[in-house]
Amino acid sequence: MTLSGTSGAAADYSIPTGFPARHMGPTATSSQTMLDALGYESLSALVEAAVPSSIRQGAPLNLPPALSESATLEALRRYASQNQVKTQMIGQGFYGSHTPSVILRNVLENPAWYTAYTPYQPEISQGRLEALLNYQTMVADLTGLDIANASLLDEASAVAEAILLMRRANKKLAQAKVVVDADIFPQTRAVIAGRAEAVGIELEFVDLAADGLPEGEICGVVLQQPGNSGAVRDQRELISQAKERGALVTVAADLLALTLITPPGEQGADIAVGSSQRFGVPLFFGGPHAAFMAVCSGLQRQLPGRLVGVSKDAEGRPSYRLALQTREQHIRREKATSNICTAQALLAVAASMYGVYHGPEGLAQIARRVHTQARALAEVLGGAGHQLVSASFFDTVQVRMPDAEAAEVVLAKAEGAGINLRRVDAATIGVSTDETTTTREMYLLAYAFGLVEKPSQAAELYDRVEFEGEYAFVDELIRESEYMTHPVFHAVRSETQMMRYLRKLADRDLALDRTMIPLGSCTMKLNAATEMEAISWPEFAGIHPYAPEHQTAGWRALIEDLQNKLAEVTGYAAVSIQPNAGSQGEYAGLLAIRQYHLANDDAARDICLIPASAHGTNASSAVLAGLQVAVVATAEDGTIDLADLDAKIGAHPDRIAAIMITYPSTHGVYESDVREVCKRVHDAGGQVYIDGANLNALVGLAQPGEFGGDVSHLNLHKTFCIPHGGGGPGVGPVAVAEHLVEFLPGSPAAASLSDAPAPVTSTAYGSAGVLPISWAYLAMMGAEGLTSATAHALLSANYIAARLKDYYPTLYTGENGLVAHECILDLRELTKASGITAEDVCKRLIDYGFHAPTLAFPVAGTLMVEPTESEDIAEIERFIEAMIAVHAEIQQVIDGEHDAANSPLKHAPHPAAVVTADAWDRAYTRQQAAYPVPGLNGAGFAPDKYFPPVSRIDGAHGDRNLVCSCPAPEAFEVR
Ligand SMILES: Cc1ncc(COP(=O)(O)O)c(C=O)c1O
Repeated sequence: MTLSGTSGAAADYSIPTGFPARHMGPTATSSQTMLDALGYESLSALVEAAVPSSIRQGAPLNLPPALSESATLEALRRYASQNQVKTQMIGQGFYGSHTPSVILRNVLENPAWYTAYTPYQPEISQGRLEALLNYQTMVADLTGLDIANASLLDEASAVAEAILLMRRANKKLAQAKVVVDADIFPQTRAVIAGRAEAVGIELEFVDLAADGLPEGEICGVVLQQPGNSGAVRDQRELISQAKERGALVTVAADLLALTLITPPGEQGADIAVGSSQRFGVPLFFGGPHAAFMAVCSGLQRQLPGRLVGVSKDAEGRPSYRLALQTREQHIRREKATSNICTAQALLAVAASMYGVYHGPEGLAQIARRVHTQARALAEVLGGAGHQLVSASFFDTVQVRMPDAEAAEVVLAKAEGAGINLRRVDAATIGVSTDETTTTREMYLLAYAFGLVEKPSQAAELYDRVEFEGEYAFVDELIRESEYMTHPVFHAVRSETQMMRYLRKLADRDLALDRTMIPLGSCTMKLNAATEMEAISWPEFAGIHPYAPEHQTAGWRALIEDLQNKLAEVTGYAAVSIQPNAGSQGEYAGLLAIRQYHLANDDAARDICLIPASAHGTNASSAVLAGLQVAVVATAEDGTIDLADLDAKIGAHPDRIAAIMITYPSTHGVYESDVREVCKRVHDAGGQVYIDGANLNALVGLAQPGEFGGDVSHLNLHKTFCIPHGGGGPGVGPVAVAEHLVEFLPGSPAAASLSDAPAPVTSTAYGSAGVLPISWAYLAMMGAEGLTSATAHALLSANYIAARLKDYYPTLYTGENGLVAHECILDLRELTKASGITAEDVCKRLIDYGFHAPTLAFPVAGTLMVEPTESEDIAEIERFIEAMIAVHAEIQQVIDGEHDAANSPLKHAPHPAAVVTADAWDRAYTRQQAAYPVPGLNGAGFAPDKYFPPVSRIDGAHGDRNLVCSCPAPEAFEVR
C-alpha cells in the first residue's frame, strides 16, 4: 500500500504482512470474494463509495513504522525497565497482594474469561454470572449489608455514586448537604468534590471524630473505615446520630479489614463502598480494579452498576441473569441510577475467585497476619519514642516525624532498601502492611526508621514486642458475625479444585475464543496474545499509583506515547487516558465543555442535545455533568433530523452547551452532513461531542477532531483491543481540541493542591495496567495496518448486509446504499408476520453456536451486527448460514408448519438436558433443535457443538423475586 487512508486513487488498503495479517481475518483472496459479491472492483473503490469525501482525512496517519510482535515486546521491555519495582507499602487504597497463579493463569490470562462480553445474554454467560454472584455474596457478607452489586469503576467514583444514591433515596433531604469525614483518602476527596459540584451537591468536610456532626440539615454522611490516617473507629454512635437526623450513611471500607472489624452494616450504615483490589488483583499502577457497593435492603432499586440476580429457566432450573436492568442507562437514559455501563467485571471475577480460594478462614488469616505486622511495627516505633497518629488501626501506621527533614531521611532510607512508604504530609509518614509483607520488610522498616543500625538487628527488637489485647482496636469492634458461609467459599481449597472450578465456569460460556461475537457498537475484535503479554510483568503490574515519579518513568513514557498516538488518530490536540470506561470519558468530556462555558461567562449554557438513537450513557453522563438533555429526532433515513435540530437550537437560545453525536451514527451509517450538524451547533455557541465508540469505522480514514468535534471519548476496549472481560476493564480516554485542553481531568494528587480540574478517577492514569495492550496494538499495526483494518471492517459489514438483504433488510444505509462497520438487520416485518421476535432469534443463534448480535439497540425489533476486521470469511459464512437457516425456521412459522409458541425459536436455546430427555413432545425434531445446520454436526459427529447450560431464562421472575446472592445448593437439586 502506497498511501494509507488518504482519499485518492493510490490507496489500496491491502493487508500489510506481519502482525496485521494475523490481526485480520480476511485475506487478499477472501476480500476479493467479498468485493465481487458487493460489485466493487477494489477495497479502495468500496471505501470511496462508503465514506463521504467531506469527512475523509487529507493525509495518512503520522505514526511510526509498524513493529513486529517480537520488536513490540522488546520495546515494551524497554519501557518496563525504566520503572522501578519496589515493595509497595504506600497503602492509601492500594496494597500489595498475591494473585494466586491459578487465578492469574486461568482467569486474567485466559481468553475464555477475558474475551467474554457483558452477560446481557445470560444463557451463554452462566459461568461469569456465577463468578459475579460469588463476588456480590462475598461483598454483602463482608460489609454486613443485604445486597451488593457486581462492581463499579474505582473506589473514589464509587463514593461519588454513593453520594448520588443517598440524594436519590433521601428525597426529603435531597437538597441538604452531604457531610464527609475529613479522614477520607485525598483522591476520594478530589473526585467527589468535582462530581458534587457538577450537580450542585454541597459537601462539607468535617473532622467528625473531633467535632461531631455539624449543624443543619444533612442528606448523607460519608465515613471511611479504616480512615485515611489508618485509624479504625467505632462508628456506631456517629451513624446513629446521623440516622436520627434523617441522613443516610455510607462507609468506604476495606474488605480485608472487615474480616476482623464489625462491618458497616452491623454498625448501622446504609451503604458500603470500596475497592476489592487487595483481593488478589495487581496494583497495575492504579487500575483496573473492581470497586463495590453494598446497600441495605430497600435501596436495591437505587443501586448503580450491574447487579446479578437468580432466576429460573424454562424448565425451572435456577439460573443467573442481570437483575433490575430498568435502573440502568441503556433503558432509563437520563433517569438512570448512574451512567456506568462497562465496569471492571474481570477484576471482580478475579477478586471473587480469591475469596473462593482462600475462604473466610484464609482471608481472616491473611488479615490477622497483616494486622499483626502493623501492630509489631507500631509497637517498636512507639517504643522508640515515635509519635503515632492513631493507636487504633488495622494495617496502616502513620508516624509523625519531628520535621520534614527527618521524614525525608526515613523515606530515602526505606527507598534505598527497596520499600516505598507514603508521605502523608511534610512530616508524616504512612506505612501499610499487606499480604506480601514478610519479616524481611519488617526488619528493613526498623532500619529505615533508624531503630537499628543494621536490618539484621531488628529481630531482637520485634522479639521483645508483647501485645496487649487481641487487636489494636477496641474489643467492641471485633467482628463476631460469620461471613462467606455459603458452600462455594468452602468447597475449593486445592489448586486442582480451583483449576477445575474455573474451567467448569468458563465452559458454560461463549466468549470470543469460541465464536465470533457480532455485537454492533461493541467491536468484539481480536485481543492478541502479544498485546496482552506485558500487562502482568512486575515492572508494569507491581507499580503503585502513588509511587514517586522518578520510579515510574517507563509507565509515564508509554502513556504519553499512547496519548500522542491517539491524538494523531483522532485529530485532536490532546488526550487524557484517565477515564476508566467510555461512560467516564463522556462525563470527563462533558465536564470539560461545561467548564469551558463557565470560563467564558456562559453559565446559562446547560442544554445537551442528544439524538434519539444515542447510547444510553450519553444522556446519563450529561446529567452527571450538570446538563439538561434535549432529544433531537431521527429523520426517516436514520440521520439526524436537521429541521428538528434547528427547532431545538431555536427553542433554547443561548442555552445550548453541546450536542453529543456518535459517528458513524449508532445506525451504523456515515452521515454525510455531519459537518453541517457540527456547524449549526457551533453557530449556536455550542460544542460538539463526538462519541468515539464507533471509531473502528474511522481510524485512518477520518478524524473526528478534524471534521467538527471539539471532544470525543474513545473506547480502548473496543477499537484498541483491550478485551471486554465480561464487562470491563474499560478505558475511555477523552480527546479534546486545543481550547479544551486546560479542562482535561486533573491528577488526584494535584487536585487538592491547586485549582486544576477535578479528576474523574482515583489515580492519574485510571486503568493504566491495561494500556500496554492498546500501545502494542498501535505499534504492531502501524498507520497502514490500522487503516487497512478499518477498510476491512467496512468490507465485512457490507458483505454481511448484502448477503442477508433478501432475508433481513438492513434498516439504514448511507451513501451508495452502503453501511459503515456494522449493519442493523430489521426483523420487524418478520415479527409481525410470525410472532418471532429479534430476541427469539438471539436465543436461537445460541443453538447454532453464536453469541447474539446487539439486540434492540438503537432500534427495537432489530439486530445490529458488527463483524470487525478480525473475523475470517469462513466464520462470516458460518454466521450468514446460521442467519439464513433461522430465517427458514421463521418462514416455517409464517407458513403454518409450526405454531410460533412451539417453534424451535421460541423454545431456544436448547441445553443438552432438554435435547436428550426421554420425553420429547416438540413439533420439531431433536436434531433440528440441537444440530440445525450440517456445519454443526460435520460428518455425523459434533465435536465442537456448544450446549448452553440452561434454557431460556425468565427475567421477569428474577426481578419479581429478587435474589442477588448465591442460592442454597438445594436449589440446584434435581426434582
Ligand atoms: C455508542 C456508545 N457510547 C458509549 C458507550 C459506553 O462505553 P462504556 O461501556 O465503556 O462505558 C458505549 C458502550 O457500549 C457505546 O456503544
